[in-house]
Amino acid sequence: MPIIAPSILSADFLHLGKDIEMINNSDADWIHIDVMDGVFVPNISFGIPVLKAVRKATKKQLDVHLMIVEPERYFEAFRDAGADILTFHYEASKHIHRSVSHIHELGMKAGIVLNPHTPVNLLTDIIHELDLVLIMSVNPGFGGQKFIENTYRKVSDLKKMINSTAKKILIEVDGGVDILNAGKLYNSGADVLVAGNSVFSSNNPIETIAKLLGRH
Ligand code: DX5
Ligand code: ZN
Repeated sequence: MPIIAPSILSADFLHLGKDIEMINNSDADWIHIDVMDGVFVPNISFGIPVLKAVRKATKKQLDVHLMIVEPERYFEAFRDAGADILTFHYEASKHIHRSVSHIHELGMKAGIVLNPHTPVNLLTDIIHELDLVLIMSVNPGFGGQKFIENTYRKVSDLKKMINSTAKKILIEVDGGVDILNAGKLYNSGADVLVAGNSVFSSNNPIETIAKLLGRH
């Protein structure tokens, strides 16, 4: 069963509660929270206080995507704020094995994020420790960008690597996902699709989430 994770980066921040309520009433199982520090990526979004507020308003799984340098400094703070799933960038962490173990010790699911230029084979010696891998299908930093087509091949390569571990490790795709490319992403091996702009700019977000899941 695929999972949709609407990204609140594209939500209406003046009425965030309303948008969380919409997600609560939808078929989305996760809520994707993009944390940007203005250093790892050329944009600043939101952080711990916003996560805490969202936590109070939903029972959905909170999928926190850290686009920050030295992410390990904040793992505990994000756990305390309500994160269920914590992902950090391969490009932002020096001691990935230690970071993954730390996230697990804190009681969260752990994932590594790969930028568009980072090959999946770099995960060979850590894949079996992960709960998920997040493949960026745009350059991180902004919502509403164009999907990078090379992503399909990366997803299918990663699927082969995961199959060789005989473990259940989810593949998540983030950036430029819409109802036109969702089916091909599932067919390539994706399990979780993040969707910001395609959900929040649509006239009927609940229906768009259902369509992204292949339900009409
Ligand atoms: C980009 C973020 C994404 C973003 C996706 O840096 O990681 O999660 O919100 O937005 P869309 O779906 O609009 O590309
Ligand atoms: Zn994201």
